[in-house]
Amino acid sequence: MNRKASSADRGRPAAGPSELVRYFEGLHGGAPAPSEPSPYKLTSRGAWARSRPAHLYYFFKKVGLRSCRLLIDLGSGDGTAACTAGLFTRALGIEADPDLAFRAVNAARHLGLDARVGFICADFYTQRIRNADCLFLYPDKPFYALEETLAGWQGTLLVYGPHFPPRKLRPAAKLTCGKETLSVYRGWDTDGGMAV
Ligand SMILES: C[S@@+](CC[C@H](N)C(=O)[O-])C[C@H]1O[C@@H](n2cnc3c(N)ncnc32)[C@H](O)[C@@H]1O
Repeated sequence: MNRKASSADRGRPAAGPSELVRYFEGLHGGAPAPSEPSPYKLTSRGAWARSRPAHLYYFFKKVGLRSCRLLIDLGSGDGTAACTAGLFTRALGIEADPDLAFRAVNAARHLGLDARVGFICADFYTQRIRNADCLFLYPDKPFYALEETLAGWQGTLLVYGPHFPPRKLRPAAKLTCGKETLSVYRGWDTDGGMAV
């Protein structure tokens, strides 16, 4: 892996959606067929698999991400989702795995998105994630503890994929794009459930 962003990457104009999709798909040898497994890595906090940037772009456009002030990607992997969000708004990725976090920083720099997309290597439970008005999660396991952590928070949670539905929350909307899904949750009450 190239561990240094080249000087040619610095200060370059921000990439558009097509370039971003090409970049992330190129990292993993092209867009996988729907039946193919994604790249995969075990990390200290779970498992990394990537989301699909073209589908994310569709979802973020559909939910009107441009009106969001700050999106935080909880477990940001190689930066795919945070960088895609950076086409619409400011974004921060939090990832426990140092190698993946490093790759994400390089990606944002390479795509000219580093002025609006940042990454930190940490456990997202130790960070002030409630400062965001939008959280993105591609869960690798059930996230019941996160539901409790977000009690009283008034933002929007976007959950990619159907595999780990929350215990208490009910989606305000469910979007599909090909075989991918995005569930949208809005407005917690103080018990950790949705405010209606
Ligand atoms: C399924 S991947 C999603 C990657 C990325 N969000 C995307 O959409 O491409 C889940 C990632 O969350 C990370 N993760 C899980 N729990 C975490 C935690 N508590 N703090 C930081 N990272 C975490 C894992 O290391 C893994 O890279």
